[in-house]
Parts: sequence; C-alpha cells; structure tokens
Amino acid sequence: MASPPKEGPAMAEDSSTASLTLVPSDEHGMDNRDELAIDNEDGGEIDVPLSALASLSSSLYAHVKENGRTYHKYKEGNLQHHLCKIALYERLHLAPLKEENVKHALDIGTGTGIWAIEFAEQFPQTKVIGTDLSPIQPEFVPSNLSFEVDDVDDDWLYTHPFDYIHGRLMVFGFSDPLAVFRKAFNALSPGGYFEMQDLCSPIRSFDNSLDGSAMVRCSNLLIEACQKRGFDLTVPKKYKEMMQSVGFVDVKEVVVEWPIGTWAKSEYHKRIGAWFKKDMEVGAEGIIMGMFTRLLGMSKEEVAVIVEDVKKDMNDRSIHAYEPFYVVYGRKPE
Ligand SMILES: C[S@@+](CC[C@H](N)C(=O)[O-])C[C@H]1O[C@@H](n2cnc3c(N)ncnc32)[C@H](O)[C@@H]1O
Repeated sequence: MASPPKEGPAMAEDSSTASLTLVPSDEHGMDNRDELAIDNEDGGEIDVPLSALASLSSSLYAHVKENGRTYHKYKEGNLQHHLCKIALYERLHLAPLKEENVKHALDIGTGTGIWAIEFAEQFPQTKVIGTDLSPIQPEFVPSNLSFEVDDVDDDWLYTHPFDYIHGRLMVFGFSDPLAVFRKAFNALSPGGYFEMQDLCSPIRSFDNSLDGSAMVRCSNLLIEACQKRGFDLTVPKKYKEMMQSVGFVDVKEVVVEWPIGTWAKSEYHKRIGAWFKKDMEVGAEGIIMGMFTRLLGMSKEEVAVIVEDVKKDMNDRSIHAYEPFYVVYGRKPE
C-alpha cells in the first residue's frame, strides 16, 4: 500500500474534495515528495468523484449549469484544474508570491477561468486579468477579476505592468513560446514573477512496459500531428532554459510525474494517476479523433481502433506510463 512521505510536507486529507493539502516546509513545498514507484501489491483503486468537482467552485457551476455544452467544457476544464492542484498539494502557484507585492496579475490562456477565479479569491487585493481566444468564462466573478479576449501571439497592449504572470496547460496553444516568454518578461514590473505549468510529451515509463504499446504510438502520433499545426508538445522541458534566455533569474523547475492509472505506489501518485486517467477518458478521444483524421490523414475507423487499444492499455496495470508535469517560474531582476 501507499507509504507516507518520508519527511517534510505535512498533509491532511480533505474529505470534501478527496484531495491532499500541504503545509509547506520548504521553498516550493514540493521537494520531499514520495518517489514514483510501482505498487507491486496492487494496492487498490482510487475513487474519482467527479461530483466533488462542483464543490471546488460552486459559483462557477451555478452560472454554467443551464447550458449543456458549456457545462461539459467546464467540467473538463474543472477536472484538469483539480488534477493540477492535486499535483501541487492544492496550490495555485509555486512562485513565492507575497500578496502585498502583487498588485496586478495576468493569466494567459485562462480557459474556463477557474484558476483565475480562485487566484482572485486568494489574492483579494490583486487586480487579476484572465485572457483567452474564446470568451467562455463566466460573467459573475470576483470583483477584482476581469476577462479579456486576447491572443498571446499578438502584441501585449496592457496599460500597466504586472507583478505576476501565469500560464497553464498552454502547450497546445504556443506556436512560439520563446516570444511569449519575452513578452511576459517585458510586461512584468521588476521583481515580478512568471510561472508556467505544463505537461511534457511524450509519455514514458521507467521500465520497458510501454514498449510497443498503443499508448506510446498514440502519444507519438499526437506529437507529430501537433508539429503540423506548429505546436511542440515536447517543449516544456525547455521552459527553464527559455526563461533564463529572455532574462529571468532564480528560475526554478519542479517536475511532477503524472502516472496514467493507479499503478504507482504512493497515495500521492495514485491519486494523480486516477484523475489523469479520468481526464484522458473524458477529453482525449475527441482531440485524437479530430487531429489524427484532419492532420495525419487517418480514417475514423483507424483512429477508433487506436482509441480502443489505448483504453485497454490505460487499464493494464502492468504498463507503467506517466507524463511529466513541469512547473517553471522565474523572477524579473530588480
Ligand atoms: C487546455 S486550456 C487551459 C486553460 C487554463 N489555462 C487552465 O489551466 O485551466 C488552453 C487554453 O488556451 C487558450 N489558447 C490557446 N491558444 C491561445 C492563444 N494564442 N492566445 C490566448 N489563448 C490561447 C485556449 O483557448 C484554451 O482555453
């Protein structure tokens, strides 16, 4: 069964969201995690209570529940948000922010806006802007938060500098991440922080259990399809170097392995794995079908076979697949 962390983060079970909360004991509160290891004892499944997601942001749900399509989008976004927070022990950010120093914050590619809403709630004195290509965010949000339709690839025309800029799960939207990082650097006030949180393809394993699997084939095809659209799904491993190259200092990189499924030993990884698998079950099929047919010229039938094989792999505990989640942040020098 899962073993408790050796030392460091003190964790408490929060039964309402079945998640872990952290009492930070070091700079990130992330350094003393359990290592990713295989659960040879088949230590049981983890419940993935999707219904608990509603309690994460009841105000958000209240405003989107009427519209079925939007509701599904929110549910998916909310699931990913929950997953990121489990991985970071309920934190929204790892950059060492002090509320009195964060007058203005920006969330690029805010999606459903759920991160920005919670950030605005946690930092009530901060004026927060969330931007996205699509205006899918709810109308009724904390008074210190506003949403704007904007493309990160366009010129940034904000009327004031920011003290914190955040971007999460943007790898499908970054055609030129280095250019975005440079814009973030220019848009920050001295001493301000920039933070990116992203999954880095391809999926991998510590052993050879992925070799020849449908999962690894699918992951490689997805990388290939995205390349054709100009997106590099493997880029987050370069974020640290990129941030340094545009001038950020004290750049820190924290990598959390997200197992796919519950094959991992620690409670922490098991929980991430259960939610990550659910996320893939809920969202991946549509993306894969669209991208593989449009960009790789595959037939719907061919893709359907891949999807079925991937589903089988995801339920096979002898396949120890994971994807690294990179959290990278740096400071603009004073
Ligand atoms: C996977 S979602 C992540 C949403 C949010 N950051 C989160 O973590 O909950 C990616 C979002 O980036 C947005 N996006 C993609 N390309 C963008 C661009 N060039 N400018 C602004 N937003 C973009 C998409 O519309 C989508 O809402």
